[in-house]
Amino acid sequence: MKLLLLGSGGREHALAWKIAQSPKVEKLYIAPGNAGTSSVGENVNIKATDFNALKAFVLKENISMIVVGPEDPLVEGIYDYFQGNPETQHIAIIGPTREGARLEGSKEFAKEFMQRHNIPTARYKSITADTLEEGFAFLETLEAPYVLKADGLCAGKGVLILPTLDEAKKELKEMLSGMFGNASATVVIEEFLSGIECSVFVLTDSEHYKVLPVAKDYKRIGEGDKGLNTGGMGSVTPVPFANDEFMEKVRTRIIEPTVNGLKEEGILYKGFIFLGLIKVKGEPMVIEYNVRMGDPETESVMLRVKSDLVELFEGVAEKNLDTKTLEIDPRTAACVMLVSGGYPETYEKGFPITGFDQAAATDSILFHAGTTLKDGQVVTSGGRVIAISSYGNTKEEALAKSYKVAEMIQFEKKNLRRDIGFDL
Ligand code: AMP
Ligand code: GLY
Repeated sequence: MKLLLLGSGGREHALAWKIAQSPKVEKLYIAPGNAGTSSVGENVNIKATDFNALKAFVLKENISMIVVGPEDPLVEGIYDYFQGNPETQHIAIIGPTREGARLEGSKEFAKEFMQRHNIPTARYKSITADTLEEGFAFLETLEAPYVLKADGLCAGKGVLILPTLDEAKKELKEMLSGMFGNASATVVIEEFLSGIECSVFVLTDSEHYKVLPVAKDYKRIGEGDKGLNTGGMGSVTPVPFANDEFMEKVRTRIIEPTVNGLKEEGILYKGFIFLGLIKVKGEPMVIEYNVRMGDPETESVMLRVKSDLVELFEGVAEKNLDTKTLEIDPRTAACVMLVSGGYPETYEKGFPITGFDQAAATDSILFHAGTTLKDGQVVTSGGRVIAISSYGNTKEEALAKSYKVAEMIQFEKKNLRRDIGFDL
C-alpha cells in the first residue's frame, strides 16, 4: 500500500522508520518531513494542516492510509475532512475525529470527560473572564503551588505553575485577558499533584485497544529537571515504577473508562491516545490527554515495538485490532535529544551537522527532529535537532550508547541533558 505520514519532527522520523520496515508498504510519503525522513521515504512539501493540498496529493498518488503525527491537523478536523468526503472516504485516517481530538484541544473538555467517567484526575474549576471572582475563590481553597492551564492548544506552553496565591491570581487574570490569545479565554485551575510522571500510549480502533510500551520523558531544559519546559530532552522505556500492579490500575481505572467513555458518547476515535499520568501515593491519575504519540517518547517506544505497525494500523482502520498482535521487545530503549544552544528560548539555525558516518558505524539509531538539507548538507533547523536512540539490556547500557554517539554528532552550540533517566 501507499501511505502518507504527516509531520516533521523526531516523532515522525521514528514513526517513518518503523512504518518503512513493514512489508505491506510499497511507498511511504512524509509531509512535510525533515532531512531524516527523506532517508526512509519521500518528503512532500505540503503542510500537515493544508487539507486541500493533501487531498489533491493523496488522490493523485492513490494513497490508502494517512497516519497523523502531530495534534494540529487532528484538532482542526482532518479525520472529518477526509471521511466526510465521498472522494476520500476510502482512505484510512489514523487519528481521532475532531470531536475526539478535543481531549487534547480543550483542557476543559478533557476534565469534564474525566469527571463524567470517574477517571482519576486533579480537582479543578474552569474559569472565563466572566467568572474571574469564582476563580479567585477556588484558588483560595487550594494549597501552593497553583496550576493554571490555558484551555486551548499552546504548543506545550499553556501550563503555568505558580508558587504563591498572589502570582496565581495575577497570572489567571492575564491569561483570561489574552496571554495565549483565544486559547486562554478559558482557563482550567487545577489542584497541584505531587508524584512521578510517565507516558502511556494506547492504540484504539474505538472498540478494542493495545497498550504500547510505557515511557518517561524529560521535559525541562536543565539537569535534575530544572529550568524551562521544552518539547522533551530525552526518554526511557520501560518505566520500572509502571509495574504490573500499577498498569492494572491504569487499565481498569483509566484506559477502559476512556475507550468505553468515548464509545458511549458516540465519539469515533481510531488512533493513539496518549495518557500523561502521575503516580500519587501509588495510584495513577491523569495529568493530561494527548491525541497523538509523544515526542521524544516515540523515539524510544518505536524501538520496542516488534510487530508490524502498519498491520496494527490496518486493525485500527478495519476495527479488528483485537485480531492483531503487539509484540514488545523486552530490552530497554533510551533516547537523548541534541538541541540548539539557547533552546527553548531563542536559538540560531542553519549550522552544519557532522559525525553521521561515525554514528552509522554504531548500533544507535538517529532520528532527525529539526534538520533540513541545504546544498546537500544536513543543517540544524529547529530547537530540538537530533534524537539518538539505543537499545540496552539495562537503562544504563542504553543511555551509555546514546551518550557515546552524542559526542560524535557535532554542530555549533549543541546542547543536551546528561542525566536522562536519573530518577528511574
Ligand atoms: P501539560 O501541558 O498538561 O502536559 O502540563 C505540563 C506539565 O505541567 C506536566 O507534564 C506536569 O509536569 C505539570 N502539571 C500539569 N498539571 C499538573 C498538576 N495538576 N499537578 C502537578 N503538575 C502538573
Ligand atoms: N513528550 C510530551 C509530548 O509529546 O507532549
